[in-house]
Amino acid sequence: MNAAAPARLVILISGRGSNMVAIVRACQAGAIAAHPVAVISDRPEAQGLASAAAFGLPALPVARAAAVDAAAFEATLAGTIDAYQPQFIALAGFMRILSAGFVERYAGRMFNIHPSLLPAYRGLHTHARVLAAHERWHGASVHFVTPQLDSGPVVLQSRLAVRPGDTEESLSARVQASEHIIYPRVLSWFASGRLTWQAGGAWLDGAPLRTPLVEDFDAGDLPH
Ligand code: GAR
Repeated sequence: MNAAAPARLVILISGRGSNMVAIVRACQAGAIAAHPVAVISDRPEAQGLASAAAFGLPALPVARAAAVDAAAFEATLAGTIDAYQPQFIALAGFMRILSAGFVERYAGRMFNIHPSLLPAYRGLHTHARVLAAHERWHGASVHFVTPQLDSGPVVLQSRLAVRPGDTEESLSARVQASEHIIYPRVLSWFASGRLTWQAGGAWLDGAPLRTPLVEDFDAGDLPH
């Protein structure tokens, strides 16, 4: 992407929305050549909706009613997204598994951030699982979304040392601080046309990205 007009970006959240806030601020600061045009939450009570509204953005709850099946919910969600005609979509703490059909509708232009060094620790409770396994390293991954959960090509990872005495809270706080840096960075590459999706894979600066880029945050006191 490298259109003359800033790209339109829709952000999907389910909770606090701290990544959404980091992304919107980066757009406002000109670090991402994009306009956030709407923030959508599948949970009406998500704190992030109030933050989005405070930015003056459309903050849209799209809840899944108990009586509604997944396909109908996704159709409503897609309709809400498409009404804003986004060029790209950021899942930012969006905690719902999406069907292959939904993902394919936005193939090559939907991103996610996941709190682990993928492919390790797909799924939930990553910080607790990392601590239980006595891992030395942890981090977060920004990836293109593909139909298989947490499996799309990873563009950029933050890596940080697990410290002695770390708790789930202390570890997640450091991982989240790194997320707020790497997610806007990847979106800025996509918005400026440096990052593209070609032949089912990620390309950066005209070459296939065969392995994720890794940025070290907080190497702690451990020897590398
Ligand atoms: C983030 O840490 C993100 O990596 C994680 O949810 C948190 C949302 O925080 N996402 C996932 O676990 C997706 N599987 P936020 O609402 O404050 O941005």
